[in-house]
Amino acid sequence: MKSLLLFCLVVLGTLINQSSSKDAAQETVSKHGKLSVKGTQLVNQNGEALQLKGMSLFWSVWMPKYWTKPTIDSVHNYCHSNIVRAAMAVEYDGYLTDPTTQMQMVETVIEAAIQNDIYVIADWHDWHAEQHLEQAKGFFEQISKKYGGYPNLIYETYNEPLDIAWSSVVKPYHEEIIKVIRANDPDNIILLGSPHYDQELDQVLADPIQGQTNIMYTLHFYPVDTKQWLRDRIQNVMNNGLPIFVSEYGTCAGTGNGTVEAAETQLWWDWLDQNQMSYVNWALSDKDESASALIANTPAEQACQDQYLTESGKLVIPQNKK
Ligand SMILES: *[C@@H]1O[C@H](CO)[C@@H](O)[C@H](O)[C@H]1NC(C)=O
Repeated sequence: MKSLLLFCLVVLGTLINQSSSKDAAQETVSKHGKLSVKGTQLVNQNGEALQLKGMSLFWSVWMPKYWTKPTIDSVHNYCHSNIVRAAMAVEYDGYLTDPTTQMQMVETVIEAAIQNDIYVIADWHDWHAEQHLEQAKGFFEQISKKYGGYPNLIYETYNEPLDIAWSSVVKPYHEEIIKVIRANDPDNIILLGSPHYDQELDQVLADPIQGQTNIMYTLHFYPVDTKQWLRDRIQNVMNNGLPIFVSEYGTCAGTGNGTVEAAETQLWWDWLDQNQMSYVNWALSDKDESASALIANTPAEQACQDQYLTESGKLVIPQNKK
């Protein structure tokens, strides 16, 4: 009798443990552990498909008030996210001019994400990273040495390459950074950008990076500018074996302002959900523009509470729970 009861408890425990919630906030690091890539799919420690949904912080140099522990608590609790992206500015008086301050800001976010049991992207937020290779190597060396042992950490080596060549410029840059990271961290996920704002995945497909594990390529989309034609392109590269991760998307145009395109954004979300792909919204910001999830003067510790959401935030936050 006693053993039957024990058996029932174990079965029940297993069921509870395995049930996965639609609310990203419930799908934490302690539940899913170390991530890896299986085929084109991001998977958890048990090899099961896992979708991460969350928020990107805004450029560190322009929105430092949200690069704080109280805001990261809110990202988890009120933005219903299991991932936050630390978009660390490189130019514009960012890392190139003041690496100490920028590093401290990134570390604050990483440590708050670890405390919140969510994943975190250390993003070299640069449009000209190939011109800053040595600095980028220094940054990823330090981050991977200090936090590479945490399953929370994801690296993004190059935010958005502009219209430059993949094979001769972007790919060799990534290979240098991957080498630096892998010396300290053999297996956390590394996200890689492609030309034309992370949309020229065809160039990547023609000449992908070889001999690496747990790398994914980033897709960025803004539904005013990027519609079915981009989903078709990405579906094709995935069908041909490239793993894709949406490390940034907005609900408006790529300029960050103008109309919020609810219907087209929903088409994107439906397609991403069908493919169990991860997505991170631009941006957790209260700047006066459509891409911002927060209204002006939202307090750091109340980010994503209902009364502080913009038109975009009112779409994005419920989606993180679906
Ligand atoms: C975004 O557009 C609104 C409405 O036209 C305008 O008031 C606001 O200043 C714009 N934001 C930026 C950052 O240009």
